[in-house]
Amino acid sequence: MLNLGILISGRGSNMENILKSIKNKKIPINPAVVISNRTEARGLKIAEKLGIKTEIIESKGFEGSRVDYDKKIISSLKKYGVTPENGLVCLAGFMRIISPQFVKKFKNRIINIHPALLPSFTGLNAQKQALEYGAKYSGCTVHFVDAGMDTGPIIIQAVVKIKENDTEESLSKRILKEEHKIYPEAVNLIARNRVKVSGRRIIIS
Ligand code: GRF
Repeated sequence: MLNLGILISGRGSNMENILKSIKNKKIPINPAVVISNRTEARGLKIAEKLGIKTEIIESKGFEGSRVDYDKKIISSLKKYGVTPENGLVCLAGFMRIISPQFVKKFKNRIINIHPALLPSFTGLNAQKQALEYGAKYSGCTVHFVDAGMDTGPIIIQAVVKIKENDTEESLSKRILKEEHKIYPEAVNLIARNRVKVSGRRIIIS
């Protein structure tokens, strides 16, 4: 069974959903650790309540380089058995760019959820970007993390129709509902070894 490490920065609703699916025996994976780069992340309390080990590696005021910071994350993950061989890392609202060294070490072992239909609207405030662009549909994407920004191979997407009277808030809420479905689903497929990467394409068996 793989060991799962979840990296968060804030609210942690995707993390909570994944952890609850694991508790309900829907996903065969060991929830090894939740790591936050922010001491005040609300998700930490949720993880603790669910009985999951937590670690804080504060990034604010961290004086080393990005690579130095990521080394700390990697060694913390290792402490809980989350290695490239036996682990999976989920970025769940983790508001930091991962160094290419981290990505390389954990090739096809780090996944992320993005609140838009990639490759559209990468980066921050994706829901606002979709609204302002006038898109009729947006959604969310679970993808492997590569060295680019939201550019890795796509595992699962869900589509959300944009309404004429949508605000950033109302659209984000509907997208989040879909995020909570597809992120646990993606973790489950990987946990069951049903995801194969072939170039940019993902084959689900
Ligand atoms: C989600 O919208 C996710 O798509 C984005 O950051 C947000 C995190 O929310 N990457 P939460 O912390 O999981 O509630």
